[in-house]
Amino acid sequence: MSIEVQPFGNLSTGEAASLFTLTNKNGLSAKITNYGGILVALSVPDRDGKFADIVLGKDSLDDYASGHPYFGAITGRVAGRISGAQFTLEGKTYPLAANNGPNCLHGGLKGYDQLVWAAETINDHGVNKLRLSITDPDGSNGFPGTVECTVTYALLDDNTLEIAYTASTDKTTPLNLTNHSYFNLKGSGEGDILGHEVQIFADSVASIDANSTLLGRREPVVDGFNDYRDPVVLGSRDLNGNNADIHFFLENARTKLPQVAAIVHEPTSGRTVEVFTTEPGVQFYAGLFLSADAPEIGKDGVIHGAMTGFCLETQDYADSVNCPEMGGAILRPDEPFSSTTLYRFSAK
Ligand code: BGC
Repeated sequence: MSIEVQPFGNLSTGEAASLFTLTNKNGLSAKITNYGGILVALSVPDRDGKFADIVLGKDSLDDYASGHPYFGAITGRVAGRISGAQFTLEGKTYPLAANNGPNCLHGGLKGYDQLVWAAETINDHGVNKLRLSITDPDGSNGFPGTVECTVTYALLDDNTLEIAYTASTDKTTPLNLTNHSYFNLKGSGEGDILGHEVQIFADSVASIDANSTLLGRREPVVDGFNDYRDPVVLGSRDLNGNNADIHFFLENARTKLPQVAAIVHEPTSGRTVEVFTTEPGVQFYAGLFLSADAPEIGKDGVIHGAMTGFCLETQDYADSVNCPEMGGAILRPDEPFSSTTLYRFSAK
């Protein structure tokens, strides 16, 4: 696998960002910027060998910096919602920014999606990988503890995009890391995802209210509504927050080696993505709110309407700090964190 680097522009702060192109032996390529660790483009063949870019994104660094719905970004320090935008840990209460109704979403006002990560190319047992790292200081976005975090991307020769995370801290803190890519297996800008067949290996979901606030309970999936254990054509359901923007508890829970979490197949192109993870859950988000407030302009000027991309955000229960019985999204000084998620592509 080769990795090439080119400039991707400068932020208003003067910080420079780069764009890395990872290419595997079959000609698949992934473009990743160290601004937000964003997966900018992912070129994957269909059943006839025709390549298309299957992730939603923006054309330039300026466009990403102007704001976007977490296209392809690494989200942290806590991906997902901390209920009521506050938590109490070891006797101290920590207020956070309420940036999504009453909740703190995706790490607060300046999450990991907006940081410029240090980048290096490493060779891991003969495989070239892109390693991104940040030091997230004590108190940033209101969270305790200095967190050292790395995210390592590789495009393996079996057509797998591998994303490996590590984190450590000097004080106990909530932590939940994911990648927020929006996939459209027909190709970015090729219309809606309603023909995609989605399978998620989960038997229960997190209970939420009308604001998507996590309520600290889990409920069994409901047949015909949010049960995706057998493949479901998305357009056959009335998609809403309770079946298409929801945390699924995976049957495998947290594992040492990545286990299958979801499979999505798109019949017209034949493309399939299989998602494997060591994480115990996945937020399935079908892009319900794309262009809800203003037209969401993507690459090549395409406007992404609602349900033109889906996310499978592998993670733990975001509000674990308030409901420890629901998950383990908490990082302690003596317990460094690591996790791996694989997106494996094929076509038939
Ligand atoms: C959330 C959605 C949100 C989206 C973009 C997802 O992880 O669950 O509610 O609209 O991220 O912020």
